[in-house]
Amino acid sequence: MDIAIYNIGNYVVNNYILQTPLGIIVIDTGYPGDADRFLRRFQKRWPLSEIKYIFLTHHHDDHAGFLGTLLGKCDAKVVLHPAALAPLHTGKSEEPPGAGYSSWLASLFSKVKKGFMFPPVDLGNRAIVLNGEDDQPFEQLGLPLHILYLPGHTADSIGLFCTQSGDLFCGDAAMNAIISVARHTIWIEDPVSFAQSWDKMLSVSPHKIFPSHGNPFWPRDLVKYRHFLDQRKLIPPAK
Ligand SMILES: [Fe+2]
Repeated sequence: MDIAIYNIGNYVVNNYILQTPLGIIVIDTGYPGDADRFLRRFQKRWPLSEIKYIFLTHHHDDHAGFLGTLLGKCDAKVVLHPAALAPLHTGKSEEPPGAGYSSWLASLFSKVKKGFMFPPVDLGNRAIVLNGEDDQPFEQLGLPLHILYLPGHTADSIGLFCTQSGDLFCGDAAMNAIISVARHTIWIEDPVSFAQSWDKMLSVSPHKIFPSHGNPFWPRDLVKYRHFLDQRKLIPPAK
């Protein structure tokens, strides 16, 4: 089965588009202000009616920022973790105890950026809320796309693994951006779960990993930097 991968994102956030025989799956959206750029780039190649699913790796502002706008322009359903519903409803991320930044550079970034709010989204009947790790809506449709629960960056983090090609779309379960060190995501809510999610990614033997930030990288990077996670001291967010 042919699944073609495109990336119509920018240098900050990737917007992966999976073209499947059942239509297009968009992986995440982007910052609230990026909707027009996305729509322009998308419509150069496909009509918006081709979008059948939006796979939300988690609720953050740079992933769900223009989800509501996109839903208003197509009939797609949103596949998401149940823990994403509450923050989508408020447009605000929680900062659970123990969460923090994985480097001083990342902490600095948060001070410069300020605020991580996004327009709230009420999904109504557009949501396909996952009901446990055995609930695999894409595989039920015959697509070789297996959803992995990858908590740690956030509680609702999920990834999409193409069992045919070995490509793994990990959202923010790992990061390859300039401000991330050793593929560690700049914000980590639960370091133990985050490390376990790296183990889970490695357990499916991916061919290549496609993060939401930065270029795709080889899974050997996770092996190389895995032990740093056990020593990682997070920098708490400013109050
Ligand atoms: Fe994130």
